[in-house]
Amino acid sequence: MIILCVFLILCCNLVQGQFPRACTTSATLRSKSCCPLWKDGSLCGSSSGRGRCRDRVVFTSLASGRVRQYDDDRLDWPKYYYDKSCECFGNYSGYNCGGCRYGYFGEKCDRTHTVERKEIRELSLLERKRFFSYLALAKTTKSQDFVILYTGDRHHKDTYKFVDASIYDVFSWIHYYSIKAILQNGTFDDTTNYAHQGPAFPGWHRLGLLFLERQIQLLTGDEYFALPYWDWREDKNCSICTNAFLGDNDVQGFLSPYSHFAFWKSICSGYNYDEAYCLGADDQNQMEKLHRKPGVSPDAPSLPTIQDVEETLKWEDFDRPPYDRSARRSFRNALEGFIDPKDGVTRQIGMHNQVHVYLGGTMGEVPISSNDPIFVLHHCFIDKIFEEWLCRHNATSDMYPENDQPGQGPNECSTPYFPCIRNKDLLRNSTNFGYIYSKYQGM
Ligand SMILES: *[C@@H]1O[C@H](CO)[C@@H](O)[C@H](O)[C@H]1NC(C)=O
Ligand SMILES: *[C@@H]1O[C@H](CO)[C@@H](O)[C@H](O)[C@H]1NC(C)=O
Ligand SMILES: *[C@@H]1O[C@H](CO)[C@@H](O)[C@H](O)[C@H]1NC(C)=O
Repeated sequence: MIILCVFLILCCNLVQGQFPRACTTSATLRSKSCCPLWKDGSLCGSSSGRGRCRDRVVFTSLASGRVRQYDDDRLDWPKYYYDKSCECFGNYSGYNCGGCRYGYFGEKCDRTHTVERKEIRELSLLERKRFFSYLALAKTTKSQDFVILYTGDRHHKDTYKFVDASIYDVFSWIHYYSIKAILQNGTFDDTTNYAHQGPAFPGWHRLGLLFLERQIQLLTGDEYFALPYWDWREDKNCSICTNAFLGDNDVQGFLSPYSHFAFWKSICSGYNYDEAYCLGADDQNQMEKLHRKPGVSPDAPSLPTIQDVEETLKWEDFDRPPYDRSARRSFRNALEGFIDPKDGVTRQIGMHNQVHVYLGGTMGEVPISSNDPIFVLHHCFIDKIFEEWLCRHNATSDMYPENDQPGQGPNECSTPYFPCIRNKDLLRNSTNFGYIYSKYQGM
């Protein structure tokens, strides 16, 4: 029975991610077509009714007459790379429609189940040890399905190359890639990006977590695996920063040699400048080890409180003009942490941002912060607050606002996930994606 289950999962792998290895050969890149064969020998599994290869995968929110002065490869995702890609039917998904949408399982994607994400301190010792060993496996197993992009000079697209990465590193890289400054008419604009400082923030991170969770399910054959979260409300001193959990650190910030992640290195560290996409992801010498300095930064000496979370949840508008870090009385901007959740106006480092700054080290460097697994636990809690807000305000996808942030329009594809999931379609309850959160400390 166990063997059968493993087989069923492994035969229908493939979920959203970037870049599909099958779509990075020179022939596919030249033809701008990402419609790989499924195992039935047809493009996108079309003979089996799973999907079809179609033109114009991009949904753009801007009026067609408007000229965009961008040279950015991620804009109107995935248009720069592909004109054609798979459109999957029903419960099917994945770059060749060989996989299932989140929450669906089995060869025909007709089985559903819901996993429960728990607070890490709610896990049994066995569950916790399993989580750490799954992460270790994801960090050291090369992704079969995905590769990552690198270049030392983003201006010259003929220098772009695709290289192997481990499953955890693909997850980490997707975050790094989404955050890079936007190349606009030859210069870099780092005031906006595809995943932050705009209405895409909560949904973008939701997809990233789903990607990692599904990849780990596929890797281990454990369909019921769920990511844990860290409820940091009122936490006095990063109580999970111990070797039994996420790891203790020394005064310089490096993790204790007796902790689970002591020997993890950060991909893309050292390449945190505009021109590069993670040049040398395979260069071990360039990569720094994980480090943390909880509570050291004067900008965030403590973690957010229960009251901060309640004040954040009270804002009724999902987001408000101008839909960036200056938006007032916006749930998204309070959650992301650019305004005081109490008055919705005063600029401050709060909530999501506060936890990054509080932890410092790798987590304090936003582009590479996803290298530290505490990022996963932190963002699961941010996602839990997002879920709480969706429930309390009966939110629906039509609450996602039109806006001018590149890649963050309601009908634009969440960038750089693949195949396309529109930003507005992420404004739906987590049960639509096959997971729920446990109740913990009154929330
Ligand atoms: C999708 O899965 C659901 C739940 O198992 C099933 O009832 C439905 O028939 C499936 N849809 C398609 C189009 O296969
Ligand atoms: C873009 O750059 C070109 C050449 O430097 C310049 O002529 C043009 O005005 C610029 N456009 C915008 C919108 O900045
Ligand atoms: C906080 O944790 C650090 C590292 O584990 C420890 O050195 C420090 O004494 C703790 N501070 C308090 C106030 O508990």
